[in-house]
Amino acid sequence: MNDTKRWNVIKSKNNEAMIKEAAQLLMDGNTVAFPTETVYGLGADATNEKAVEKIFQAKGRPQDNPLIAHVATKEQLINLVEDIPDYVYRLIDHFSPGPITYVLKSNGTCAENVTAGLQTVGVRIPSHPVALSLLKNCNIPIAAPSANTSGKPSPTTADHVWEDLAGKIAGVVDGGATGVGVESTVIDCTQDIPIILRPGGISKEELEEVVEMVSFDPALSGEDERITPKAPGMKYTHYAPEVPMWLVAGGSEKIQDVYNELVTGGKRVGVLANRNTLEKMNVEYAISLGETPEDVAANLYDGLRKFRKAEVDIILCDTYPEHGIGQAIMNRLRKAASRYIEE
Ligand code: TXA
Ligand code: MG
Repeated sequence: MNDTKRWNVIKSKNNEAMIKEAAQLLMDGNTVAFPTETVYGLGADATNEKAVEKIFQAKGRPQDNPLIAHVATKEQLINLVEDIPDYVYRLIDHFSPGPITYVLKSNGTCAENVTAGLQTVGVRIPSHPVALSLLKNCNIPIAAPSANTSGKPSPTTADHVWEDLAGKIAGVVDGGATGVGVESTVIDCTQDIPIILRPGGISKEELEEVVEMVSFDPALSGEDERITPKAPGMKYTHYAPEVPMWLVAGGSEKIQDVYNELVTGGKRVGVLANRNTLEKMNVEYAISLGETPEDVAANLYDGLRKFRKAEVDIILCDTYPEHGIGQAIMNRLRKAASRYIEE
C-alpha cells in the first residue's frame, strides 16, 4: 500500500489542521489509527462497507468478529440503535464519554460488516480529547477495533501501531501513550440487566453503583468450553507476545522457583511483574509494570511487546486480584498466556 502518514498532535502547534486532514481521510473511505483513552483504534467510516473491509484486511481480522462504532455524543449513539432500556441512559450519563461499550439492537445505520451480520451493534463514546476531536470533525460513526495485527497485544502507543500496520493503513494520529491501557468494558444491553461480555476500563463494582444488578457472561470464566462467548472476539487467542508467556500464581517466591528451574535448564527468562513483586526477586531481566493495579493495566501491553525472541525464551508473569481493573488485567493475561501455573 501507500506510505502511511503520521501526525504528532502532541508536539505540533498545528493540531487542528492535522485532525482535519485525518478526518478527511476517514470521510473519504480510508483507515486511520488514533488514540483513545483505552488503546489505539483503527478507524474507518462505519456506514461504508468498503472502508470497513480495509480494517479487516489491514489487521488480518476474522470476518465474524464485529467492530465497535465510535461516536462523539449521546445523540449520535442513540441514532445508531433501537430498543434502549432505561438503565442504558443511566450508564451513559455516568460513564460516557469513557471506557464502556454498549451492545444494543442495531437500527441498520452501520454497515453489515461492522456488526458481522449480528442484529446488535457495539457503540461507545471515547473520552480521549484527540478521539473526540477527530469524531466531531468527521461527524460520522467510526468503526474501530484495536489498531494491532489480530492476535497480538493491543497498541497503547503510536509506535506499537506503526510496528504492526505501517504501509497497510492511510495514517496514524500520534497522541502519546493511552491512559487506561486495557480496552473498554463491553456490556450486552439487550436484556433486563446488563451483562459484561468483556471486562475492561469500567469495573463490575463501578457499574453496580449505578445499576443494581450486573452479571458476567458465563463464558468468561472459561470453566466450560462448551459455552460460546457472546462477544465473538472473546473466543480467539489474543494478546500473544512474540515470546511464550507463562502466568504464575503464588507470588514472588513461586515465580522465583519457576525462574530458577528454567534458568538451570538453560532458558533465558524474562519476568513481567509489578515493582513490589520484583523487589523481592533475584532475576537478570525484568520489566516492571509499576505499582498500582491502574499502573499495571496502563503498562501491560507495552510490557508484553517489549520482550523479544532475540533476548528471552520465556516470559514469567505475575497474577493479580480479580476485583476492579484486576478483572480486565487477568482476563487479558489468561488469553495471552500459553501456560497457567495455578497455586
Ligand atoms: O477500548 C476499546 O473498546 C477499543 C478502542 C479502540 O475503542 N476497541 C476494541 O475493539 O477493543 P476490538 O474490536 O478490539 O474489540 C471489540 C470487542 C470484540 O470482542 C467483539 O467481539 C466485541 O467487542 N463486540 C463488538 N460488537 C459486538 C456485538 N454486537 N455483540 C457482541 N460483541 C461485540
Ligand atoms: Mg482487539
